[in-house]
Amino acid sequence: KAPLAAHRDMYLNAGGEVIPGLSINGPLAAGIPGQPAALAHIAQHYGRLPLADTLAPAIELARNGFLVDAYYQRMVRFRLPQLQRFPAAAQQFLQHNEVPVVGHRIVQPDLAFTLEAIAQKGAAGFYQGEVAEKLIAGVRQAGGIWTQKDLDQYQVVEREPLVGHYQGHRIVSVPPPSSGGVVLLQMLNMLQALDIEQHSPVQQTHLLVEVMRRAYQDRAHYLGDSDFVEVPVPRLLDQGYAQQRAADISPQRASVSPPMAVSTEKGSDTTHFSILDTSGNRVAATLSINYPFGSCFVVPGTGILLNDEMDDFSTKPGTPNAYGLVGNEANAIAPGKRMLSSMTPSFIEHDDWLAILGTPGGSRIISMVLLGALETMQGKEVDAWVARPRFHHQYLPDVIQFEPDALSTDIQQALANKGHTLKALSDTYGNMQAIRWDKKNQRVSAAADPRGLGTAQVE
Ligand code: GLY
Repeated sequence: KAPLAAHRDMYLNAGGEVIPGLSINGPLAAGIPGQPAALAHIAQHYGRLPLADTLAPAIELARNGFLVDAYYQRMVRFRLPQLQRFPAAAQQFLQHNEVPVVGHRIVQPDLAFTLEAIAQKGAAGFYQGEVAEKLIAGVRQAGGIWTQKDLDQYQVVEREPLVGHYQGHRIVSVPPPSSGGVVLLQMLNMLQALDIEQHSPVQQTHLLVEVMRRAYQDRAHYLGDSDFVEVPVPRLLDQGYAQQRAADISPQRASVSPPMAVSTEKGSDTTHFSILDTSGNRVAATLSINYPFGSCFVVPGTGILLNDEMDDFSTKPGTPNAYGLVGNEANAIAPGKRMLSSMTPSFIEHDDWLAILGTPGGSRIISMVLLGALETMQGKEVDAWVARPRFHHQYLPDVIQFEPDALSTDIQQALANKGHTLKALSDTYGNMQAIRWDKKNQRVSAAADPRGLGTAQVE
């Protein structure tokens, strides 16, 4: 949540321009964390085990450390100047103030202390007492604006998930303030209206891109925290609206993304777990500190690395954030408001089977889940959902981004001939975690994205 002292123009200079980096680096970029409150809430209302048990492995890992690998090095290199800027972050995540060597052990005794406090006292271990005092003092000393009132007022909100339908499947996904569920269901509604399955591979790619463009445009225009602004969810998810939105898609030509209509109406890093237990309980959980190493600010004495979730707000209507996403007044900053996320934890339900899926990946999360969900509903194996080559369009910038080898040369040429601008990425993206439960044959299969570090376990 935005701190209570946050305000709409807090990242703008006197001339009304965005100050680069201010919503991405350092304590001013950090929203009030919700994860400790969520962990306590889940343990209290849904879990069989106390937090002291469930946090024990994390406490051990913080105390005894983990070894640096090539991926860790890559992420540190990406954020090195910022990590070097904040002494407690440099102490915790670097080696002699530089990128640690492979095999170096990262130990986090302060984090172990903070996790112990949460294990013993629940949410109060974080939002009150010694840890809270250190959080407020550390943040304010480094130029942040948190107060104890922010921590006192943090509340978990349980919301009804969104439900949509696609070719006999029931899709259950996340409501605002994530944009994930609305955008995913809106894209599926348009694909249904276009009868995507009957088209050639080139045409399918073209239509998928056009559908992504339109749904991400609506995301930019309408979506924000529904506790603060009126988000027209029923209208956006209406089948008639999808037909109307898809009606101007030309089979031959790429549309041109119109400039953002700025309205003054009031209106990676992220992690995903998919879990199924023997009683059929299921969890699709996406958590985010936004950028790799979040804001790069560790609060001295707590081991807590703060997020830079404030950059998920629209710092200025029409100005792109770190993911190139634009937003409108609906996602403007306001005290206590939640920023608009792209997290898309989802279930897909069929009479005979159930799927759980989600991924990290900033703005590309929603298009990844869409592509994975289509594989799922075409009856492919779970490994195929997570491995599927990926492409993405998010309205603005008006380009198709694609992973190496995701689009054949012929498809690239055909898309360019239709007027699309293509941008080949130098690397892959995402880290999808998925489970398929075949209820008929009582078989569970799971897969972790081959691009990432996760593992899938069926016990
Ligand atoms: N911070 C990434 C997201 O939630 O969209």
